[in-house]
Amino acid sequence: MILIKLGGSIITNKEKPLSVRRKTIENVCKALKKIEEPKIIVHGGGSYGHYWSVKYDMHTKEKKYDLKGVSIVKNSMIELNKIILDSLLKNKINPYCLPPTDFMFGNKPIPKKIKEMEKIAKSGLVPVTFGDALWHGQNKTFILSGDKIITHIAKILKPKLCIFALNEDGLYSDLKTKKLIYELKGENPKITQNTMDVTGGMTRKVNEAIEISRIGIKVFFVNGNKPERIVKAIKNKKYEGTLFKGKRNA
Ligand code: IPE
Repeated sequence: MILIKLGGSIITNKEKPLSVRRKTIENVCKALKKIEEPKIIVHGGGSYGHYWSVKYDMHTKEKKYDLKGVSIVKNSMIELNKIILDSLLKNKINPYCLPPTDFMFGNKPIPKKIKEMEKIAKSGLVPVTFGDALWHGQNKTFILSGDKIITHIAKILKPKLCIFALNEDGLYSDLKTKKLIYELKGENPKITQNTMDVTGGMTRKVNEAIEISRIGIKVFFVNGNKPERIVKAIKNKKYEGTLFKGKRNA
């Protein structure tokens, strides 16, 4: 089982509201077709969900946000999701769309539903889900990031590898020189690369990656503009990016 997060920065143009990177999505889908193992795809919000979350001042904290904002964020994610689903289908991957409301109850994952995702993935269908605005209860909502979804799923399904496709080569030790960190073994890297957004940008991704690697699961940050690197990582265990080595109790 492989979990793949398609970051908002790779599937959308973060500089321009509501713009998708169609060619990049297409290339990523072509690469994903080459992966024979069961997989689950999670995508982010980029210039769709994030754009509206910022406009309506919505965050990961459970609060009473503007109701129109909640609806607009959700609609925009459906729109972006449809583009991803169409591209997958066009590239002969059979996606099975699962909005996060299908396996989340408030901010808690529903283990039974997540285990069912594994069965769906093993059947040959590819479960596809995404970061979204979610109902929390008591008239409160929150933004659930796709990165967090990866952690929830990873903890329950214990995949072989979690991949985060980014718009960068991986994690840099120095942002100016873009010196890449190839491997991390449970330690906390110093993060200089912080393009903040409502769900916490790179800091959130690194924190999720560390949390996942600590339960003994490998996490790989890779450049989604070079999707063949995703295939190489799975097929040949050649990691051209940043690998968070699965180390228990690190
Ligand atoms: C954000 O999901 C979802 C919304 C803002 C609705 P992510 O936090 O996973 O998105 P990216 O990948 O950083 O864009």
